[in-house]
Amino acid sequence: MEECCLNEKTDLDSSKELIIDAENICKNYQIGDMEVQILKNVNIRVRKGEFLAIMGPSGSGKSTLMNILGILDRPTCGTFNIMGRDIFRATDKELALIRGLEIGFVFQNFNLVPRLNSIQNVELPTFANKKEGVDPENRATELLGLVGLSDRMYHKPNELSGGQSQRVAIARALINKPSLILADEPTGNLDTKTGQEILDIFTNLHNEGSTIVMITHDPEIAEYADRIVYLRDGVIEDDRIN
Ligand SMILES: Nc1ncnc2c1ncn2[C@@H]1O[C@H](COP(=O)(O)OP(=O)(O)OP(=O)(O)O)[C@@H](O)[C@H]1O
Ligand SMILES: [Mg+2]
Repeated sequence: MEECCLNEKTDLDSSKELIIDAENICKNYQIGDMEVQILKNVNIRVRKGEFLAIMGPSGSGKSTLMNILGILDRPTCGTFNIMGRDIFRATDKELALIRGLEIGFVFQNFNLVPRLNSIQNVELPTFANKKEGVDPENRATELLGLVGLSDRMYHKPNELSGGQSQRVAIARALINKPSLILADEPTGNLDTKTGQEILDIFTNLHNEGSTIVMITHDPEIAEYADRIVYLRDGVIEDDRIN
């Protein structure tokens, strides 16, 4: 397949640290005896401080791409550097450290642990990997305050609304002060007003310097981002400043 190029028009400030540098990424899945190409020659750069939305219809490969960006999955071909590390040269241990310390994940279905309260859910990632200087309990308390849940610290997930659950999940994503926040349809299970409140949290984080990649199929939600990448059938159809 023909190789394509990075969109120079959206790679505006080369003085900013490159968080993600992916070139000619593809992802193939074996379905029966057929190999199906889900991502095709995807080029994407994300620099520190960007708030990027990835849009596209259902099945276009958004989650597949996000799993690659979060090193939950490996591309079948192409080159992929995250925070200056080549994922094909790093050991599994090094990749697990990057995943645990430098990336905060937010999912559509919150993924909270039912038997843990809000503080314990937020602290959870630090049991596996903890960034130096992070006091889990203090930081969890502080983050839950930041997302407006000071009065829900000791509630379990089944005692929280969807919007509150997603706030806990966002606080959890931030516990290790990650370099990158990856969110896959973070408002997909929420009503419009609650979804807007969650997006206000993302906007505040972005204004304070966080780097965010958010997947959505909703154009109104993508409007919150300062750059939008459009995927269709595994190909980047457009990449533009919003
Ligand atoms: N493990 C897998 N094995 C085979 N095919 C897969 C696998 N995971 C995803 N696919 C296929 O890859 C395509 C893209 O899936 P993906 O989940 O990335 O889409 P999406 O854009 O996130 O869609 P949605 O908006 O519905 O979440 C789909 O056709 C899907 O069936
Ligand atoms: Mg998806």
